[in-house]
Amino acid sequence: MNESDNHPDRSGLVLPILASAAIGAIAIGVGLYAAGRTPAESTAAAVPAIATEEYGRQLVAHTAELLGPDQTDPSRRLTDSRLNCASCHLSAGTEPGALTLLQTDEHYPRFSGRAGGMTDIEDRINECMQRSMNGRPLAMDSPEMIAIATYLRSLGAIYEATGTAQRQANDPPAFTTPKRAANLASGERVFDERCRICHGPDGQGLLAAEERRKGYLFPPLWGPDSFNNGAGLHRVLTAARFIKARMPLGEPTLSDDEAFDVAAFINSKPRPEMAGLERDYPDRALKPIDNPYGPFADDFPLEQHRFGPFQSIAAFYESQKRP
Ligand code: HEC
Ligand code: HEC
Repeated sequence: MNESDNHPDRSGLVLPILASAAIGAIAIGVGLYAAGRTPAESTAAAVPAIATEEYGRQLVAHTAELLGPDQTDPSRRLTDSRLNCASCHLSAGTEPGALTLLQTDEHYPRFSGRAGGMTDIEDRINECMQRSMNGRPLAMDSPEMIAIATYLRSLGAIYEATGTAQRQANDPPAFTTPKRAANLASGERVFDERCRICHGPDGQGLLAAEERRKGYLFPPLWGPDSFNNGAGLHRVLTAARFIKARMPLGEPTLSDDEAFDVAAFINSKPRPEMAGLERDYPDRALKPIDNPYGPFADDFPLEQHRFGPFQSIAAFYESQKRP
Protein backbone atom coordinates (compact mmCIF):
# COMPACT_ATOMS: atom_id res chain seq x y z
CA MET A 1 0.00 0.00 0.00
CA ASN A 2 1.49 3.35 -0.89
CA GLU A 3 1.15 6.61 1.00
CA SER A 4 -1.70 8.02 -1.02
CA ASP A 5 -3.73 4.95 -0.06
CA ASN A 6 -3.11 5.77 3.57
CA HIS A 7 -4.10 9.38 3.25
CA PRO A 8 -6.50 9.71 0.33
CA ASP A 9 -7.38 13.29 1.22
CA ARG A 10 -3.84 14.60 1.03
CA SER A 11 -3.26 15.05 -2.69
CA GLY A 12 -3.65 18.62 -3.79
CA LEU A 13 -3.54 19.89 -0.22
CA VAL A 14 -0.65 22.27 -0.75
CA LEU A 15 -2.24 24.35 -3.48
CA PRO A 16 -5.64 25.14 -1.94
CA ILE A 17 -3.99 26.14 1.32
CA LEU A 18 -1.46 28.26 -0.50
CA ALA A 19 -4.26 29.85 -2.46
CA SER A 20 -6.28 30.74 0.61
CA ALA A 21 -3.54 31.63 3.05
CA ALA A 22 -0.62 32.41 0.78
CA ILE A 23 0.03 36.02 1.53
CA GLY A 24 -0.59 35.86 5.25
CA ALA A 25 1.17 32.60 5.94
CA ILE A 26 4.18 33.38 3.81
CA ALA A 27 4.53 36.85 5.31
CA ILE A 28 4.27 35.32 8.77
CA GLY A 29 6.70 32.58 7.82
CA VAL A 30 9.23 35.17 6.71
CA GLY A 31 8.62 37.11 9.91
CA LEU A 32 9.31 34.00 11.99
CA TYR A 33 12.54 33.35 10.16
CA ALA A 34 13.54 36.96 10.66
CA ALA A 35 12.81 36.70 14.38
CA GLY A 36 15.06 33.66 14.56
CA ARG A 37 12.19 31.48 15.78
CA THR A 38 11.95 29.39 12.67
CA PRO A 39 9.64 26.46 12.42
CA ALA A 40 11.81 23.43 11.68
CA GLU A 41 13.89 24.52 8.70
CA SER A 42 12.76 22.70 5.64
CA THR A 43 16.02 20.93 4.87
CA ALA A 44 17.90 18.87 7.40
CA ALA A 45 21.63 19.11 7.03
CA ALA A 46 23.51 15.98 6.01
CA VAL A 47 23.07 14.09 9.22
CA PRO A 48 25.63 11.77 10.77
CA ALA A 49 23.98 8.53 11.85
CA ILE A 50 26.02 8.46 15.01
CA ALA A 51 24.89 9.04 18.53
CA THR A 52 26.00 12.63 18.98
CA GLU A 53 24.30 15.60 20.61
CA GLU A 54 24.09 17.27 17.19
CA TYR A 55 22.38 14.24 15.63
CA GLY A 56 19.96 14.31 18.57
CA ARG A 57 19.15 17.96 17.92
CA GLN A 58 18.56 17.22 14.23
CA LEU A 59 16.22 14.36 15.12
CA VAL A 60 14.18 16.59 17.43
CA ALA A 61 14.02 19.45 14.89
CA HIS A 62 13.51 17.38 11.70
CA THR A 63 11.79 14.23 12.94
CA ALA A 64 9.41 13.93 9.99
CA GLU A 65 12.23 14.16 7.50
CA LEU A 66 14.52 11.74 9.36
CA LEU A 67 12.13 9.19 10.90
CA GLY A 68 8.78 9.89 9.22
CA PRO A 69 6.57 7.69 7.05
CA ASP A 70 8.22 8.72 3.75
CA GLN A 71 11.67 7.20 4.47
CA THR A 72 13.02 5.09 1.61
CA ASP A 73 14.42 2.61 4.16
CA PRO A 74 11.33 1.00 5.76
CA SER A 75 13.24 0.24 8.97
CA ARG A 76 13.55 4.00 9.50
CA ARG A 77 9.81 4.69 9.21
CA LEU A 78 9.33 5.12 12.93
CA THR A 79 6.63 7.77 13.15
CA ASP A 80 3.30 7.75 11.36
CA SER A 81 2.63 11.43 12.03
CA ARG A 82 4.51 14.02 10.05
CA LEU A 83 5.14 16.19 13.11
CA ASN A 84 8.55 17.02 14.50
CA CYS A 85 9.30 16.81 18.22
CA ALA A 86 9.90 20.56 17.80
CA SER A 87 6.30 21.08 16.60
CA CYS A 88 5.45 21.11 20.32
CA HIS A 89 8.86 21.38 22.03
CA LEU A 90 9.57 24.72 20.35
CA SER A 91 13.05 25.55 19.05
CA ALA A 92 14.03 21.91 19.55
CA GLY A 93 13.10 22.14 23.23
CA THR A 94 15.35 25.13 23.96
CA GLU A 95 12.50 27.61 24.23
CA PRO A 96 11.86 28.11 27.95
CA GLY A 97 8.39 27.84 29.45
CA ALA A 98 5.59 25.68 28.07
CA LEU A 99 6.79 22.22 26.95
CA THR A 100 10.44 23.21 27.28
CA LEU A 101 12.97 20.38 27.40
CA LEU A 102 15.58 22.51 29.20
CA GLN A 103 14.83 20.95 32.59
CA THR A 104 14.09 17.43 31.43
CA ASP A 105 17.33 15.93 32.70
CA GLU A 106 16.50 16.87 36.29
CA HIS A 107 13.00 15.32 36.03
CA TYR A 108 14.25 11.73 35.60
CA PRO A 109 14.12 9.03 36.75
CA ARG A 110 10.62 9.56 38.08
CA PHE A 111 7.37 7.75 38.78
CA SER A 112 4.83 7.85 35.97
CA GLY A 113 1.17 7.22 36.78
CA ARG A 114 0.50 6.56 33.09
CA ALA A 115 3.19 3.87 32.87
CA GLY A 116 2.51 2.65 36.42
CA GLY A 117 6.19 2.62 37.42
CA MET A 118 9.55 4.40 37.37
CA THR A 119 10.60 5.90 34.03
CA ASP A 120 13.86 7.20 32.57
CA ILE A 121 14.36 9.90 29.94
CA GLU A 122 14.50 7.10 27.35
CA ASP A 123 11.09 5.74 28.40
CA ARG A 124 9.63 9.25 28.21
CA ILE A 125 11.07 9.81 24.72
CA ASN A 126 9.35 6.60 23.62
CA GLU A 127 6.04 7.75 25.15
CA CYS A 128 6.14 10.80 22.86
CA MET A 129 7.26 8.56 19.96
CA GLN A 130 4.19 6.33 20.38
CA ARG A 131 1.63 9.02 21.24
CA SER A 132 2.54 12.55 20.16
CA MET A 133 4.33 11.20 17.08
CA ASN A 134 1.89 8.30 16.56
CA GLY A 135 4.82 5.94 15.97
CA ARG A 136 6.86 3.12 17.38
CA PRO A 137 9.40 3.07 20.22
CA LEU A 138 13.07 3.60 19.41
CA ALA A 139 15.28 0.66 20.35
CA MET A 140 17.07 1.56 23.59
CA ASP A 141 20.49 0.86 22.03
CA SER A 142 19.80 2.58 18.69
CA PRO A 143 21.95 5.57 17.66
CA GLU A 144 18.72 7.61 17.48
CA MET A 145 17.69 6.94 21.08
CA ILE A 146 21.19 7.51 22.41
CA ALA A 147 21.51 10.73 20.38
CA ILE A 148 18.18 12.20 21.52
CA ALA A 149 18.80 11.28 25.16
CA THR A 150 22.34 12.74 24.97
CA TYR A 151 20.96 15.93 23.45
CA LEU A 152 18.23 16.27 26.11
CA ARG A 153 20.75 15.65 28.91
CA SER A 154 22.96 18.39 27.44
CA LEU A 155 20.19 21.02 27.57
CA GLY A 156 20.33 21.26 31.36
CA ALA A 157 23.53 23.28 31.07
CA ILE A 158 21.71 26.01 29.14
CA TYR A 159 19.06 26.16 31.84
CA GLU A 160 21.70 26.26 34.57
CA ALA A 161 23.25 29.28 32.86
CA THR A 162 19.92 31.18 32.86
CA GLY A 163 19.62 33.67 35.70
CA THR A 164 16.72 33.57 38.18
CA ALA A 165 15.07 36.77 36.93
CA GLN A 166 15.19 35.49 33.37
CA ARG A 167 13.75 32.14 34.49
CA GLN A 168 10.82 33.90 36.11
CA ALA A 169 10.24 36.01 33.00
CA ASN A 170 10.08 32.74 31.05
CA ASP A 171 7.31 31.25 33.18
CA PRO A 172 4.22 30.66 31.07
CA PRO A 173 1.19 32.81 31.97
CA ALA A 174 -0.94 30.92 34.48
CA PHE A 175 -3.98 29.16 33.04
CA THR A 176 -7.07 28.99 35.25
CA THR A 177 -9.64 26.40 34.24
CA PRO A 178 -12.97 28.09 33.43
CA LYS A 179 -15.83 26.90 35.66
CA ARG A 180 -17.93 25.53 32.81
CA ALA A 181 -17.82 22.98 30.02
CA ALA A 182 -15.81 24.01 26.96
CA ASN A 183 -17.86 25.55 24.17
CA LEU A 184 -16.96 23.94 20.85
CA ALA A 185 -18.76 26.58 18.77
CA SER A 186 -16.80 29.39 20.46
CA GLY A 187 -13.65 27.28 19.97
CA GLU A 188 -14.34 27.07 16.26
CA ARG A 189 -14.66 30.87 16.12
CA VAL A 190 -11.30 31.28 17.89
CA PHE A 191 -9.80 28.79 15.43
CA ASP A 192 -11.16 30.73 12.45
CA GLU A 193 -9.96 34.08 13.74
CA ARG A 194 -6.60 33.17 15.27
CA CYS A 195 -5.33 29.81 14.01
CA ARG A 196 -6.46 28.99 10.47
CA ILE A 197 -4.17 31.54 8.85
CA CYS A 198 -1.23 29.25 9.70
CA HIS A 199 -2.75 25.84 10.50
CA GLY A 200 -5.01 25.90 7.43
CA PRO A 201 -8.76 26.22 6.89
CA ASP A 202 -9.31 22.56 7.88
CA GLY A 203 -6.55 22.39 10.53
CA GLN A 204 -4.39 20.25 8.24
CA GLY A 205 -1.39 22.57 8.29
CA LEU A 206 0.90 23.76 5.54
CA LEU A 207 3.56 21.45 4.13
CA ALA A 208 7.14 22.77 4.11
CA ALA A 209 7.65 21.66 0.52
CA GLU A 210 5.59 20.01 -2.15
CA GLU A 211 7.00 16.63 -1.12
CA ARG A 212 5.41 15.51 2.14
CA ARG A 213 8.75 13.92 3.10
CA LYS A 214 9.94 17.23 4.54
CA GLY A 215 7.01 17.53 6.91
CA TYR A 216 5.21 20.74 7.78
CA LEU A 217 6.02 24.40 8.08
CA PHE A 218 2.77 24.82 10.03
CA PRO A 219 1.81 21.46 11.56
CA PRO A 220 -1.65 19.86 11.40
CA LEU A 221 -3.85 20.11 14.51
CA TRP A 222 -5.89 16.98 13.78
CA GLY A 223 -6.19 14.29 11.09
CA PRO A 224 -3.84 11.50 9.94
CA ASP A 225 -0.54 13.44 10.26
CA SER A 226 -1.27 14.75 13.78
CA PHE A 227 -0.74 13.37 17.31
CA ASN A 228 -2.90 10.39 18.35
CA ASN A 229 -5.63 10.16 20.98
CA GLY A 230 -3.21 8.88 23.65
CA ALA A 231 -1.00 12.01 23.45
CA GLY A 232 -0.65 14.60 26.21
CA LEU A 233 -2.01 17.35 23.98
CA HIS A 234 -5.21 15.34 23.56
CA ARG A 235 -5.96 16.31 27.18
CA VAL A 236 -7.89 19.54 26.97
CA LEU A 237 -6.22 21.24 29.96
CA THR A 238 -2.70 20.33 28.81
CA ALA A 239 -3.54 21.64 25.35
CA ALA A 240 -5.12 24.82 26.74
CA ARG A 241 -2.04 25.57 28.88
CA PHE A 242 0.28 25.14 25.88
CA ILE A 243 -1.96 27.14 23.56
CA LYS A 244 -2.39 29.99 26.04
CA ALA A 245 1.38 30.18 26.55
CA ARG A 246 2.49 29.78 22.93
CA MET A 247 -0.27 30.24 20.32
CA PRO A 248 -0.86 32.06 18.03
CA LEU A 249 2.92 31.62 17.58
CA GLY A 250 4.64 34.94 18.19
CA GLU A 251 1.46 36.54 19.58
CA PRO A 252 0.11 34.40 22.44
CA THR A 253 -2.69 36.66 23.65
CA LEU A 254 -5.65 34.31 24.16
CA SER A 255 -7.74 34.52 27.33
CA ASP A 256 -8.29 31.43 29.49
CA ASP A 257 -11.76 31.04 27.96
CA GLU A 258 -10.49 31.24 24.39
CA ALA A 259 -7.61 28.82 25.02
CA PHE A 260 -9.97 26.34 26.73
CA ASP A 261 -12.57 26.46 23.94
CA VAL A 262 -10.12 26.23 21.05
CA ALA A 263 -8.25 23.35 22.74
CA ALA A 264 -11.56 21.49 23.04
CA PHE A 265 -12.49 22.28 19.44
CA ILE A 266 -9.18 20.83 18.17
CA ASN A 267 -9.54 17.78 20.39
CA SER A 268 -13.13 17.16 19.27
CA LYS A 269 -11.80 16.47 15.75
CA PRO A 270 -10.76 13.03 14.42
CA ARG A 271 -7.17 11.89 14.89
CA PRO A 272 -5.25 8.58 14.83
CA GLU A 273 -6.21 6.12 17.57
CA MET A 274 -3.72 4.29 19.74
CA ALA A 275 -4.35 0.65 20.69
CA GLY A 276 -4.27 -0.52 24.30
CA LEU A 277 -5.07 2.80 26.02
CA GLU A 278 -7.19 1.00 28.62
CA ARG A 279 -3.91 -0.33 30.05
CA ASP A 280 -2.67 3.20 30.90
CA TYR A 281 -2.74 4.26 34.55
CA PRO A 282 -2.97 0.82 36.19
CA ASP A 283 -3.94 2.81 39.32
CA ARG A 284 -7.02 4.54 37.92
CA ALA A 285 -7.16 7.06 40.74
CA LEU A 286 -3.97 8.60 39.30
CA LYS A 287 -5.60 9.32 35.95
CA PRO A 288 -5.69 13.09 35.27
CA ILE A 289 -9.19 14.54 35.54
CA ASP A 290 -9.03 15.62 31.86
CA ASN A 291 -7.86 12.25 30.57
CA PRO A 292 -9.79 11.82 27.33
CA TYR A 293 -10.28 8.04 27.61
CA GLY A 294 -11.44 5.66 30.35
CA PRO A 295 -11.74 3.59 32.39
CA PHE A 296 -11.97 5.94 35.37
CA ALA A 297 -12.14 5.50 39.13
CA ASP A 298 -15.25 7.72 39.15
CA ASP A 299 -18.72 7.81 37.58
CA PHE A 300 -18.45 11.09 35.66
CA PRO A 301 -19.29 10.68 31.96
CA LEU A 302 -16.44 10.48 29.44
CA GLU A 303 -17.73 13.65 27.79
CA GLN A 304 -17.15 15.57 31.03
CA HIS A 305 -13.57 14.23 31.32
CA ARG A 306 -12.94 15.43 27.77
CA PHE A 307 -14.51 18.89 27.87
CA GLY A 308 -15.42 19.74 31.49
CA PRO A 309 -16.76 21.18 33.67
CA PHE A 310 -13.82 19.96 35.76
CA GLN A 311 -14.48 21.47 39.20
CA SER A 312 -16.85 18.70 40.33
CA ILE A 313 -14.41 15.97 39.17
CA ALA A 314 -11.53 17.68 40.98
CA ALA A 315 -13.68 18.02 44.14
CA PHE A 316 -14.55 14.31 44.02
CA TYR A 317 -10.86 13.30 44.01
CA GLU A 318 -10.06 15.85 46.74
CA SER A 319 -12.75 14.30 48.95
CA GLN A 320 -11.34 10.80 48.33
CA LYS A 321 -8.00 11.90 49.79
CA ARG A 322 -9.48 12.84 53.16
CA PRO A 323 -9.53 10.09 55.79
C1 HEC B 1 1.87 32.51 12.98
C2 HEC B 1 1.48 31.19 12.63
C3 HEC B 1 0.68 30.41 13.68
C4 HEC B 1 -0.53 30.75 14.22
C5 HEC B 1 -1.39 31.97 13.90
C6 HEC B 1 -0.88 29.68 15.11
N1 HEC B 1 0.10 28.73 15.13
FE1 HEC B 1 0.10 26.99 16.18
N2 HEC B 1 1.93 26.53 15.47
C7 HEC B 1 2.63 27.28 14.54
C8 HEC B 1 3.89 26.63 14.27
C9 HEC B 1 4.96 27.10 13.28
C10 HEC B 1 3.94 25.49 15.09
C11 HEC B 1 5.07 24.49 15.19
C12 HEC B 1 6.28 25.09 15.86
C13 HEC B 1 7.54 24.85 15.09
O1 HEC B 1 7.57 24.00 14.18
O2 HEC B 1 8.51 25.56 15.40
C14 HEC B 1 2.67 25.44 15.80
C15 HEC B 1 2.32 24.43 16.69
C16 HEC B 1 1.07 24.29 17.26
C17 HEC B 1 0.64 23.17 18.06
C18 HEC B 1 1.44 21.94 18.40
C19 HEC B 1 1.70 21.07 17.19
C20 HEC B 1 0.46 20.48 16.55
O3 HEC B 1 0.42 20.41 15.32
O4 HEC B 1 -0.47 20.07 17.27
C21 HEC B 1 -0.66 23.44 18.44
C22 HEC B 1 -1.56 22.54 19.28
C23 HEC B 1 -1.01 24.73 17.92
N3 HEC B 1 0.05 25.22 17.20
C24 HEC B 1 -2.23 25.35 18.12
C25 HEC B 1 -2.55 26.61 17.64
C26 HEC B 1 -3.80 27.28 17.94
C27 HEC B 1 -4.93 26.70 18.76
C28 HEC B 1 -3.75 28.49 17.31
C29 HEC B 1 -4.77 29.59 17.34
C30 HEC B 1 -5.15 30.06 18.67
C31 HEC B 1 -2.46 28.57 16.62
N4 HEC B 1 -1.76 27.42 16.86
C32 HEC B 1 -2.05 29.64 15.86
C33 HEC B 1 2.22 28.45 13.96
C34 HEC B 1 1.06 29.13 14.26
C1 HEC C 1 2.02 16.91 19.82
C2 HEC C 1 2.95 17.54 20.74
C3 HEC C 1 4.24 16.80 21.09
C4 HEC C 1 5.16 16.26 20.23
C5 HEC C 1 5.12 16.25 18.72
C6 HEC C 1 6.20 15.69 21.07
N1 HEC C 1 5.92 15.89 22.37
FE1 HEC C 1 7.10 15.43 23.95
N2 HEC C 1 5.68 16.12 25.24
C7 HEC C 1 4.46 16.66 24.87
C8 HEC C 1 3.66 16.89 26.05
C9 HEC C 1 2.25 17.47 26.10
C10 HEC C 1 4.46 16.48 27.15
C11 HEC C 1 4.06 16.47 28.62
C12 HEC C 1 4.43 17.72 29.30
C13 HEC C 1 3.98 17.67 30.74
O1 HEC C 1 3.86 16.59 31.31
O2 HEC C 1 3.79 18.75 31.29
C14 HEC C 1 5.73 16.03 26.60
C15 HEC C 1 6.80 15.59 27.37
C16 HEC C 1 8.02 15.18 26.86
C17 HEC C 1 9.17 14.84 27.66
C18 HEC C 1 9.26 14.94 29.17
C19 HEC C 1 9.71 16.35 29.52
C20 HEC C 1 10.03 16.54 30.97
O3 HEC C 1 10.74 17.52 31.27
O4 HEC C 1 9.57 15.76 31.81
C21 HEC C 1 10.16 14.47 26.80
C22 HEC C 1 11.57 14.01 27.17
C23 HEC C 1 9.64 14.58 25.47
N3 HEC C 1 8.33 15.02 25.54
C24 HEC C 1 10.34 14.29 24.31
C25 HEC C 1 9.79 14.32 23.04
C26 HEC C 1 10.48 13.85 21.86
C27 HEC C 1 11.91 13.32 21.83
C28 HEC C 1 9.62 14.01 20.81
C29 HEC C 1 9.81 13.58 19.38
C30 HEC C 1 10.21 12.18 19.19
C31 HEC C 1 8.40 14.61 21.35
N4 HEC C 1 8.54 14.76 22.69
C32 HEC C 1 7.31 15.01 20.58
C33 HEC C 1 4.06 16.94 23.60
C34 HEC C 1 4.72 16.57 22.43
